[in-house]
Amino acid sequence: MTSTTPGTRPRVFSGIQPSGAVHLGNYLGALRNWVSMQHDTDAVYCVVDLHALTLPKEPGEVAQGTLDIARILLALGLDPQRCVFFVQSHVHEHAELGWLMQTVASYGELSRMTQFKDKSARSSGFISAGLFTYPALQAADILLYDTEVVPVGDDQRQHIELARDVALRFNARYGDTFVIPEHRIPVAGARVMDLQHPENKMSKSVDSPQGTINLLDAPQEIEKKVKRAVTDNDGEVRYDPADKPGVSNLLSILAAVTDGDPEQLAGQYQQYGPLKADVAAALIALVEPIQARLAQLDDATVRAELALGAERATAIAAPVMDRAKRACGLLV
Ligand code: TYM
Repeated sequence: MTSTTPGTRPRVFSGIQPSGAVHLGNYLGALRNWVSMQHDTDAVYCVVDLHALTLPKEPGEVAQGTLDIARILLALGLDPQRCVFFVQSHVHEHAELGWLMQTVASYGELSRMTQFKDKSARSSGFISAGLFTYPALQAADILLYDTEVVPVGDDQRQHIELARDVALRFNARYGDTFVIPEHRIPVAGARVMDLQHPENKMSKSVDSPQGTINLLDAPQEIEKKVKRAVTDNDGEVRYDPADKPGVSNLLSILAAVTDGDPEQLAGQYQQYGPLKADVAAALIALVEPIQARLAQLDDATVRAELALGAERATAIAAPVMDRAKRACGLLV
């Protein structure tokens, strides 16, 4: 099934979890594209609060995290005049289609998801069934909007491929119902690594606050984190992710932020110190305007935008939900 008639703009959908702060990996891997794509696509962006519940949370934590992250996304440049911006649980069709997707995703394919394996291995005991079926809900998020393009970082590649597979299976089983989506993964910044453990991706959940640059970090904090970033002992600035993961990560970050090329940038440095100084300066220049805009936004404005966004999202999602229910043979 195709969603757009020729000449119209492609439908884009993406989501982010409201857990913890927004970090540099989120920004370079995904959010930067969200902002640029709202200008030339029909973009729908979502704070996926239901996904956050797959790991245990304190009461009130998700609501506060949702408001906080929505404020940051608006400060980053999401413009509700140019995109649909809303909270997943405000549009009940997500949970509803999520169930239908669980009936077409197989136990075997969900078992192969590396993110489930990682997160369940790190969990201290309780592993929810939701953590296992999470990619089926993610597929529903995407398919509800007749999405063609999903801008994400590299770690979401497998989940988007699963969304494609379940859409194809649903269509084969019940007739042409869903548009088949594809991922859009950036060339630079697709996988930003932890500054302290450059063999791991930068992450909100990993216990490495010194290795994660948050967009709300103060300039001095950014300087400190970059200065202490793990490199190696040979002192040569060279882009070689396998052999020199720490230095290569710094070069990749600088390349992504300044629209450069990591190998070419490597040629401009003889020592780690000046490279780190330039990375810190580039990051500070990146976060300062975001932090200034954030200070202007209050919760009432954010809530009002989200309420409007939920109405607009429902107007798109409800007819697709109805189509899916009819297709799979429910009495409507
Ligand atoms: P989440 O909330 O973990 O991350 C949000 C976005 O940030 C990207 N990202 C990274 N990119 C580069 N380097 C990193 N170190 C890094 N860490 C995170 C992620 O790839 C993502 O694009 N399951 C999703 C949320 C989701 C979703 C969806 C995404 C739910 N439904 C539908 C797209 C479409 C997640 O947990 O992302």
